[in-house]
Amino acid sequence: MYEKLITCLESVRKKTDFKPEIGLILGSGLGDYADSVRMEAAVDYSDIEGFPVSTVKGHRGRFVFGYVENMPVVIMQGRVHYYEGYAMSDVVLPTRLMGMMGVKKLVLTNAAGGVNESFRPGDFMMITDHISVGIPSPLIGQNDERLGERFPDMSEVYSLRLRDVVRKAAEECGISLKEGVYVQLTGPAYETPAEIRMIRGWGGDAVGMSTVCEAIAARHMGLELCGISCITNMAAGMTSGKLSHREVQEAADRVSKDFKRLITKIVVSL
Ligand code: HPA
Repeated sequence: MYEKLITCLESVRKKTDFKPEIGLILGSGLGDYADSVRMEAAVDYSDIEGFPVSTVKGHRGRFVFGYVENMPVVIMQGRVHYYEGYAMSDVVLPTRLMGMMGVKKLVLTNAAGGVNESFRPGDFMMITDHISVGIPSPLIGQNDERLGERFPDMSEVYSLRLRDVVRKAAEECGISLKEGVYVQLTGPAYETPAEIRMIRGWGGDAVGMSTVCEAIAARHMGLELCGISCITNMAAGMTSGKLSHREVQEAADRVSKDFKRLITKIVVSL
């Protein structure tokens, strides 16, 4: 796996030697953010040897290198999901690759269903902690000490320091920010109402199909993390309508202006 990462890194380095400090993973419908940075280079996932390529609509599939104001960043415009059929080690390969590119801090974003009854579609939720249900840990298998230790601590996955930065950034933008626990299930089916009640009982506030595995792999490598969920819909059984990917994308589109402002403020404050 380490050798595969090195091959991918060499593939990227053939296209650009840009050194990002901050990594940003853009969730469903949020990929447009990459168009607002001062781009220095872009590398399509399909041009990286051995790299998993996302098949989901609304996920573009490339690394964008550039500056948010003066901050050098790498953006994953489109992520890879476990439900697409990749091995978990491939799902988190892009995250690890960003770590190997020199990224020290990672901003994770996603579209999520609201489980907490006080949430509304269009809300932003800062992730304070996570729970994974049904997905294998990306750390299963022989541990590679070059990446991190065998039994990494997960008591502060989303850094307290970065959480303060995110809160302050939202305040300065005049954007109201919820906080809560994000739960990752495998998908690709949306949850049942019974599953949502279970998640609420466990202390989950938002639900989705990504992010937790990436957060675990990134913490394993010692990156400092923060996460923002865009609540695109209330979770199954909480409203009368059916859930659809279109609804998720449309809701993400509606808040994209505020999302851009918030993420820019966070990135330049990190
Ligand atoms: N469930 C799971 N994933 C999601 C949802 C949801 O309700 N909304 C956006 N991504």
